[in-house]
Amino acid sequence: MIKLLIIPILGDALRYAIRLMRLEDIAQANEIDRECFPEWPPASYKREILFSKLSLYLVACERENKNPLADQAAEPKENQRTASRLGQFWHKLRLFFSSEESLSSATNQRIVGLSGLWIMSDDAHLTTIGIREPYRRQGIGELLLIAALELALTRNARVVTLEVRSSNLVAQRLYEKYGFSRMGLRRGYYTDNGEDAVIMSTDTLTSASFQSHLQRLKQAHAQRWGKADCQIGQYPRPQG
Ligand SMILES: CC(C)(COP(=O)(O)OP(=O)(O)OC[C@H]1O[C@@H](n2cnc3c(N)ncnc32)[C@H](O)[C@@H]1OP(=O)(O)O)[C@@H](O)C(=O)NCCC(=O)NCCS
Repeated sequence: MIKLLIIPILGDALRYAIRLMRLEDIAQANEIDRECFPEWPPASYKREILFSKLSLYLVACERENKNPLADQAAEPKENQRTASRLGQFWHKLRLFFSSEESLSSATNQRIVGLSGLWIMSDDAHLTTIGIREPYRRQGIGELLLIAALELALTRNARVVTLEVRSSNLVAQRLYEKYGFSRMGLRRGYYTDNGEDAVIMSTDTLTSASFQSHLQRLKQAHAQRWGKADCQIGQYPRPQG
């Protein structure tokens, strides 16, 4: 069974839910990346979902049209979990070499945004956050950020840090709203145009001040946009 942590947010139901990225989401995740970050090389989601113990990706998806096949594809079957290490490794390799099309046929759920975390000892680094253009300004970026902060807490991270383009004032607004402060600059960090990166960090996630700020923002989000379910737990990846 996948262990799920449900974060209830008060209010009417929101159309979107947050959950960990699955293999069958990768084709849509790549579409979102191309739309949000055309200058970046393609991410290696498949390798990271299957093999990386440090990276975690979340998606915001539409709640309706849930295809039971998606769960079947996502959850490791009992025999996969209990199989020998060699069997598990072989299973991962088979998934790694399957095409994006064959994986994505297991879902018809619309993915509208994603975020990513790298957990490095007590520092969780927000590596990405992006929303499909037509879905922006509907509180989904905020919801993904709330979920990423909660996820970092469940992984015992002390702080969440990130880099953001100095020209990306929209994203900086979002981060500042959630208590991120500017810690410094990385000069010429972005290789496509030599732009500086602003380094931002939260206060200690478990501090009373950070927690009360986060809880206030979660409630305000729920009142404004409706109740959302965030399902964050262990990756449904075969155990290695
Ligand atoms: C940054 C991004 C993720 C925000 O997602 P979103 O779903 O549109 O944001 P939300 O609707 O949840 O807005 C939350 C907060 O973000 C800030 N914000 C979002 N859009 C904004 C805009 N156009 N202008 C000013 N502030 C904005 C505000 O603080 C807003 O809170 P408010 O509604 O109380 O003013 C989205 O614009 C995006 O995908 N951009 C392209 C990719 C990107 O730049 N990612 C960041 C990389 S570091």
